[in-house]
Amino acid sequence: MFSGAGDTGSLSICNMKGNRMGKLVVSCIAVGEIGTNCYLLHAEGAEETLIVDPGGEARRIRKKMETEGLRPVAILLTHGHYDHTLAVGTLRRMYPGIPVYACLDEKDILLDPSLNAWFMDRFEPVTADIWLKEGDELDLAGLHCRVLQTPGHTIGSICFYFEEDKVLVAGDTLFFTGYGRTDLPTGSARQLKKSLERLLLTLPGDVIVLPGHGRSTTIGFEKSVEGLG
Ligand SMILES: [Fe+2]
Repeated sequence: MFSGAGDTGSLSICNMKGNRMGKLVVSCIAVGEIGTNCYLLHAEGAEETLIVDPGGEARRIRKKMETEGLRPVAILLTHGHYDHTLAVGTLRRMYPGIPVYACLDEKDILLDPSLNAWFMDRFEPVTADIWLKEGDELDLAGLHCRVLQTPGHTIGSICFYFEEDKVLVAGDTLFFTGYGRTDLPTGSARQLKKSLERLLLTLPGDVIVLPGHGRSTTIGFEKSVEGLG
């Protein structure tokens, strides 16, 4: 089991200094009001870093990267809810030209506050530079991952599967002993069930799941929780 805080046995990966999984090193910062997991992913020994779901606190994310000697090269979004995207605009201004990757089917949600659960005054629409779809392969920062389109929590929810490193960045699709809500715009319980079955029945049990909220888990553990394994 991948654990946080320097492998102390805790399952939480948040606020850890960095855990190595194969060549992939993951740091997690819980950001924003509801503690969304923003992940910093980089290859061991490399500076180039991927920022996943910067849901707020851009300055804190930048400080973490500076402290660890990391240089961001792309922002990846698992879906368009505000708590996963709130710092995108500020990070774009901090790092001019940094590309943003998101699912094409999530475009409306990223742009429209009535769809992305945004309920405050200031709203900065988010758009992507590279629109993704099922099966897209990404080679970024010396890492390789595949896009798995997993609708249900939102229509354009995606997971990033780092197969070599046995890591799935799952957004709000799959959590430790749970899964994402489906009552928000474009959510679908039927689609989520299909997406979960796909993940749990096709990925190896030892794949580590990095969820959008809360502690990490594995495909095998969640499979047993759902009575599928
Ligand atoms: Fe969400």
